[in-house]
Amino acid sequence: MLKPIIVGLSALSLTTAFPWMADVPGLNPNMAKRMADERDILKRQTKPGCYAQSCCPNNPVHPGAAPLTAQFPYLGAKNGLPATRLGNIEVPADGDTAHDFQAPGALDIRGPCPGLNTMANHHFISHDGITNLNEMLDAQQNGWNVGYDLAMALAVIGIGLSGDPVTTKMSIGCDATPRTAATGSLLGQELGIDAHNKFEADTSLSRSDYFFNAPDDFTFNATLFAQMDKTTGANFNLVNMVKFMGQRYDDSKARNPNFYFGPKAVLLYGAASFLFRLFPNFTSGDTAPANLQNIGPFFGAVQTNTGTTAPKFKFSGGERFPEEWHNRQHPLTLANVADDFITMYGMNPVLLGGNVGTNNFGALGTTGTGVSGVTNSKFTGATQKQIICLIYQIATENVPSSIQTSLGSLPAAVVQFAASKLNPLSVFINAGCPLKPVGGT
Ligand code: HEM
Ligand SMILES: *[C@@H]1O[C@H](CO)[C@@H](O)[C@H](O)[C@H]1NC(C)=O
Ligand SMILES: *[C@@H]1O[C@H](CO)[C@@H](O)[C@H](O)[C@H]1NC(C)=O
Repeated sequence: MLKPIIVGLSALSLTTAFPWMADVPGLNPNMAKRMADERDILKRQTKPGCYAQSCCPNNPVHPGAAPLTAQFPYLGAKNGLPATRLGNIEVPADGDTAHDFQAPGALDIRGPCPGLNTMANHHFISHDGITNLNEMLDAQQNGWNVGYDLAMALAVIGIGLSGDPVTTKMSIGCDATPRTAATGSLLGQELGIDAHNKFEADTSLSRSDYFFNAPDDFTFNATLFAQMDKTTGANFNLVNMVKFMGQRYDDSKARNPNFYFGPKAVLLYGAASFLFRLFPNFTSGDTAPANLQNIGPFFGAVQTNTGTTAPKFKFSGGERFPEEWHNRQHPLTLANVADDFITMYGMNPVLLGGNVGTNNFGALGTTGTGVSGVTNSKFTGATQKQIICLIYQIATENVPSSIQTSLGSLPAAVVQFAASKLNPLSVFINAGCPLKPVGGT
């Protein structure tokens, strides 16, 4: 039997190449078809852990982020503006009860991002799990000293792919469209960051692939966390995280018939780098060991036994800041993340592409398609500037339109939102990225 060979996706639609893509909620831009698909999707998503609107919890109480006070100023990041102070401070500050940990209740939304879940549990963003641009900018800076450009890129990608560009609201998990969308919005469903193959993707560190546990691609999986602990020897540094990411890639490629690892995988490397760039307990400066004492609480992972008997970990009930934890001194910038990505990918330059059936991998044909930093199905050879521009492309084009003819460019409102937020940042100007006009295309 002939294996289907995927050559030059530029000539094919992504759904033709990977037919299962049509089944992923929210990925089909054809609204009429999407409505029809939706009925089937809802049928498939009735079990607990689904992210459809019908089973997304709705907390009538939306407290918003606890405001900064003069007594506890953190990094001074307020109202979506850049931080005004250096880091290396304790989070939450000693005595700041407004930012104490509070476990999520049954009505609160949580999702696949340990960072956002921690922010919500500590009231740096709204505890119900419905947040907005300014909350996300302030929380990332005050909590971890994420640089303004990186904080903006992450928030804009999250809002653009799974939230609302007009209200700037986003669900940190399941579909809460009635609470994120503007009244009378024509933008359709806003699936929240649980949505598969938008920001969330296969090979996550601690979440199962969508296919294995569909539609639950967002719940903490203690077995995966135990694997990460074992592979890294509880030293979550760059080299060991590359090793673990390689294992996750190999496992998905071998066993997940719907495995997909495209240009947006750059975001997964970023997330993995946060374990050693943002999560360590920084006693001074910007480097400190990434050990279980600090990584565990951020994932909500508690060790149940020190032997080899499974399960070695379980979920604590809520992601949180470690005790007496201090953030890094200087901001982690988008350029820093691009550099780490280049180093990490260079150590294990896996092919971009997807499976059509079990263990039947087709590489993306990406030669000459205008995807910044990608050639011959790899990121190989990418420069820092190219990776920065790829991130701009993801925010303004979902994945570069040249390799996805049918999965849809982003709605004009999203492109304008993303361009208006990202164009003013010097990182994109200095990298020479082709910027989208803010007035629309
Ligand atoms: C507004 C900003 C952010 C958004 C929209 C966001 C969104 C996401 C999403 C959608 C994922 C799932 C990716 C996957 O499939 O694995 C993810 C993963 C992750 N995020 Fe965030 N994130 C944000 C900021 C942060 C910050 C500031 C941190 C750290 C302090 C963080 C840490 C992580 C980690 C460690 C993962 C990987 C989890 C895993 O693979 O199991 N994120 N994030
Ligand atoms: C957690 O991950 C393990 C290892 O891949 C897998 O066997 C198990 O089914 C996953 N559990 C869930 C609930 O997805
Ligand atoms: C973090 O470091 C401080 C010292 O700077 C220490 O007092 C505290 O116990 C450490 N916390 C963790 C979780 O390692």
